[in-house]
Amino acid sequence: MPLITTTQGRQFSVAEGESLLDAALRADVALSYSCRTGRCSSCKGKIREGETRLLHEETGLSSAEREAGWVLTCARQAVSDVLLEVEDLGVPLIPARTLPCRIQSLERLSADVLRVELRLPPNSRFNYRAGQYIDVIGPGGVRRSYSVANALVEGRPLELHIRQVPGGAMSQYWFEQARPNDLLRLHGPLGTFFLRDVADRDLVFLATGTGLAPVKAMLESLSEADAPRSRSVTVYWGGRVPEDLYWESSALAVPHRFVPVLSRADADWHGRRGHVQAVMLADSTALDQSVVYACGSDLMIRDAHAQLVAAGLPEQRFHSDAFVCSSAA
Ligand SMILES: Cc1cc2nc3c(=O)[nH]c(=O)nc-3n(C[C@H](O)[C@H](O)[C@H](O)COP(=O)(O)OP(=O)(O)OC[C@H]3O[C@@H](n4cnc5c(N)ncnc54)[C@H](O)[C@@H]3O)c2cc1C
Ligand code: FES
Repeated sequence: MPLITTTQGRQFSVAEGESLLDAALRADVALSYSCRTGRCSSCKGKIREGETRLLHEETGLSSAEREAGWVLTCARQAVSDVLLEVEDLGVPLIPARTLPCRIQSLERLSADVLRVELRLPPNSRFNYRAGQYIDVIGPGGVRRSYSVANALVEGRPLELHIRQVPGGAMSQYWFEQARPNDLLRLHGPLGTFFLRDVADRDLVFLATGTGLAPVKAMLESLSEADAPRSRSVTVYWGGRVPEDLYWESSALAVPHRFVPVLSRADADWHGRRGHVQAVMLADSTALDQSVVYACGSDLMIRDAHAQLVAAGLPEQRFHSDAFVCSSAA
């Protein structure tokens, strides 16, 4: 089996047909990742030595990134021993497992967003970090990813915020068929979108639409846990019209500034207008002291990353979770 060595000196072997990412996770090497289908680019790395082969398309890479030698570790298998330049998060990841669950409640939050609570079997002790996501396995084996929208509290159901995608297979289930007590399965926790490096920084969250879900969980974890204190907490949440803003932050215990931003509001809207990343840039004076967690549309995340890094945010302090399509690649 080919042996992978990271530039930080960690080593692991890769089985035939296994991605570099899966092999790393199996060996407790915590690489940054989200979608696992080559779409989001969270798992970017560079092959310093050795040869790899595509398992599936790397749609998350721009041509400039490709030319600069980047690959996606979730989309590559090793052909020979490899020296891999990649960020090792250096934190233990909670192993994912598959569990049965039942719908506890369903509630419309807006015209196209549903709040779903999932109840786990008693004593199942499902553990996750605020910001992580789960795969829900629904009728007919349809499997889709959803961020958990609440921080871990023993005995509390998992909360999901689900946006309706027109014609979507799982959207059809959630919005037309799902009923309390339906039996589903979940697999998780997944992804590495959780808080780190926030002590003494200005902590900024950027979210669009249901990208609020993991941000809400992280904000709750800051309120409840002994998380290292950041200097300030600001949340920019974007939608199109006022009806899209289905949540407000007044119940949070952590001191914070909450800035709703609308892109298509009429003259009655007296709040901020445009895109969350532009509004953040207009407000920010000390980007070199900030850490940014961005979640929602792929377009927002790419644009925010490009603009904020160009304006002085250190690249390693931009963390993101893109809600790309999660059906199999
Ligand atoms: C890590 C991760 C976390 C996610 N968390 C959430 C969450 O908390 N809440 C939430 O509402 N969604 C979330 N998503 C998106 C979700 O997993 C599904 O992809 C989405 O809800 C569509 O599923 P569906 O079965 O309804 O549509 P599908 O049957 O999968 O797709 C129907 C059509 O819509 C297109 N499509 C599907 N998803 C998208 C998309 N996101 N953007 C653009 N086009 C799309 C497909 O290409 C297809 O043409 C997340 C995705 C990822 C990767
Ligand atoms: S592209 Fe690899 S995890 Fe998303």
